[in-house]
Amino acid sequence: MNDQSSPVALITGAARGIGLATAGRFLSEGWRVALLDIEAALLEEAVASLQAPGRSLALPCDVADGAGVRASVAALEAHFGRLDAVVNNAGTAAFKPLLETTDEEWGRILAVNLTGPFLIAKATAALLQRDGGGAMVNITSISGLRASTLRAAYGTSKAGLAHLTKQLAVELGEVGIRVNAVAPGPVDTAMAKAVHSPAIRADYHDAIPLNRYGLEEELAEAIFFLCSPRASYITGQVLAVDGGFDAAGIGLPTLRGKGRG
Ligand SMILES: NC(=O)c1ccc[n+]([C@@H]2O[C@H](COP(=O)([O-])OP(=O)(O)OC[C@H]3O[C@@H](n4cnc5c(N)ncnc54)[C@H](O)[C@@H]3O)[C@@H](O)[C@H]2O)c1
Repeated sequence: MNDQSSPVALITGAARGIGLATAGRFLSEGWRVALLDIEAALLEEAVASLQAPGRSLALPCDVADGAGVRASVAALEAHFGRLDAVVNNAGTAAFKPLLETTDEEWGRILAVNLTGPFLIAKATAALLQRDGGGAMVNITSISGLRASTLRAAYGTSKAGLAHLTKQLAVELGEVGIRVNAVAPGPVDTAMAKAVHSPAIRADYHDAIPLNRYGLEEELAEAIFFLCSPRASYITGQVLAVDGGFDAAGIGLPTLRGKGRG
């Protein structure tokens, strides 16, 4: 595949963490990748670290800004000339009790985590359709599958994104675009470091059947698969990549292992 004919992916929130690992995964398969992120300087460093100058493009942008999103997608089209996959990965979190969650925090979390993917989907669907369909993957969370304390805003934004995934899968399936979601369990990224205290980390180990955090590369693998032609009959699904957390139900530590008594 030469550079002009190789497929193109747009990945949001790609300056670090799961998004950056996913960009690396696509590049390793010969794709070209546009990395979009609100942190312009970090994004420049990230793109440089990938060492794929002809096949990567930095798009500094806030996914919650409709005009910025449309300008970024236009810049992608001008640069690469096509689009085959979109990964809505940019996200923000604040874990707080309901009464301490400000109206501004609620608004911003919904704007980035839910409105952002809506704006990106609107700006890219016609390009994906023109170039043969392709796929979209939205990064939700186990916080959108199961409720907990402190996550009224974050969990609700991710549950909303899971439903938007199904809405888009049904509507865009008619024009050949597949839309799925990946719901990560805890992954040791900057976001997790910011909101997971040592006590939270220990509890996660107890609640996860595989007994560990996930790796960025493990998320990237699932995201790449859902974007690839190997997933050609999969649409409208939310795939939990979570070490079994969502399946666990009554996962009491005392009912497992040595604790069974
Ligand atoms: N790390 C986890 O444990 C975990 C668990 C479940 C879900 N997730 C989800 O996975 C996704 C990636 O998370 P991560 O852990 O890699 O986080 P991260 O904070 O390391 O990376 C997120 C990236 O998104 C960018 N970003 C934030 N707001 C943006 C905006 N408005 N516009 C454009 N870019 C923006 C950040 O600058 C950053 O580069 C997020 O959607 C997150 O909610 C993460």
